[in-house]
Amino acid sequence: MSTKTDILYTRKYRDNAVNLLKPEAFPLFTATAFTANSLAEIKEAYRQGYTYIRTNNPDRDVLASQVTALEAPGMDRDTLIFCSGMAAISTTIGTLLKPGDHVIANRAIYGETFDVFGKMYKKFGIETDLVDMDDIENIKKAMKPNTKMIYAEVCANPTMNLIDIPAVAEVAHKNGAYLMMDNTFTTAVSIKPLTLGADIVISSMTKFMNGHSDAILGCMTSTHEVIEEVRPMRMLFGTPADPFPCWQMIRGLETLYLRVETQMRNAAQLAAFFEADPHVIKVNHPSLDSFKQRDVAKKLWKNDEAMSGMMSIILNTEDEDKINAFMLKLKYVHYATTLGGLRTTLNHPCTSSHSHMPDADRRAMGITPGMFRVSVGIEDINDLIEDFKNAFTALD
Ligand SMILES: Cc1ncc(COP(=O)(O)O)c(C=O)c1O
Repeated sequence: MSTKTDILYTRKYRDNAVNLLKPEAFPLFTATAFTANSLAEIKEAYRQGYTYIRTNNPDRDVLASQVTALEAPGMDRDTLIFCSGMAAISTTIGTLLKPGDHVIANRAIYGETFDVFGKMYKKFGIETDLVDMDDIENIKKAMKPNTKMIYAEVCANPTMNLIDIPAVAEVAHKNGAYLMMDNTFTTAVSIKPLTLGADIVISSMTKFMNGHSDAILGCMTSTHEVIEEVRPMRMLFGTPADPFPCWQMIRGLETLYLRVETQMRNAAQLAAFFEADPHVIKVNHPSLDSFKQRDVAKKLWKNDEAMSGMMSIILNTEDEDKINAFMLKLKYVHYATTLGGLRTTLNHPCTSSHSHMPDADRRAMGITPGMFRVSVGIEDINDLIEDFKNAFTALD
């Protein structure tokens, strides 16, 4: 045999000493296909094994099983993993809805999710109404006989508006509509929307679920019926996740509780500090008595320190020079165009997510140039408070 051939076929390792599927850390399977030696083996692989990477992959399966365990304990549910949060959203909606269907979405919603409804699927004849879901009567009024889906984030970006999940689920189900929820800002550590009546839950795993700011993925958990409808469409949309970020997130999820419980506790303590500091005129975090939907927060959560690692604050100035000086004075906390990582980061909605909107529209949503979104990390809370206290002196 020539070396040219040998290099392609030689794979020596102690195969009888290694159970490939039982190492302490689950291996990364980057193979785009699995091989077979006979038609019988191929048929078996198609029936219940691994064939081609876009169809199935062991890392994707392991990650999906972890997410199902998190989002739907004790429930007969399943999960699909997608190459991004947006892929989870657009593939699921593109599968479940058809021309002539109507959607009600919360007005406070991630901009690109709104574009999935307002730009992408509108041209296929799916109409979406945006309503202010702080008042459930607005949803009831917007319901139509063809309403097939109510869509909302558990905690909206950046204003933290909440959804009364059991009450909205009741309205959806009376009409035979799905309640689809985005759990990105909260995660299943904080709240499990499926156990409260939602039908479909998605997350951008890119954020808290991975936690290390180094991979992009999305997940969707629902009934077997929904999953088996979406699974073949995920193959056609070409939106299954690559194995490498799945492997990263298998590891990320193993520390999910450690990270997110700390982030949520830090966030509640930081929110209390902000509320008492004169440099901050408003704090949006559900743990505070001043939070506009505190009654809904109390209904959804028992523990003020286990709600969300996210919040937004409004500084006592809109002066850009002062805001720049404040940002430059921060030692640890820094600006980043993501959230949910180990380090505390800021985001300025008026220059990023909401920069395309007229100022008056933004102000009507409670978003002003003095607003920062804060994603709280796992630092020592005293260091975080000191960092902000020191940087706030730049606003004086
Ligand atoms: C609430 C929310 N949903 C969905 C997404 C989209 O996720 P991805 O960036 O993983 O596609 C984001 C992204 O920031 C988000 O904040």
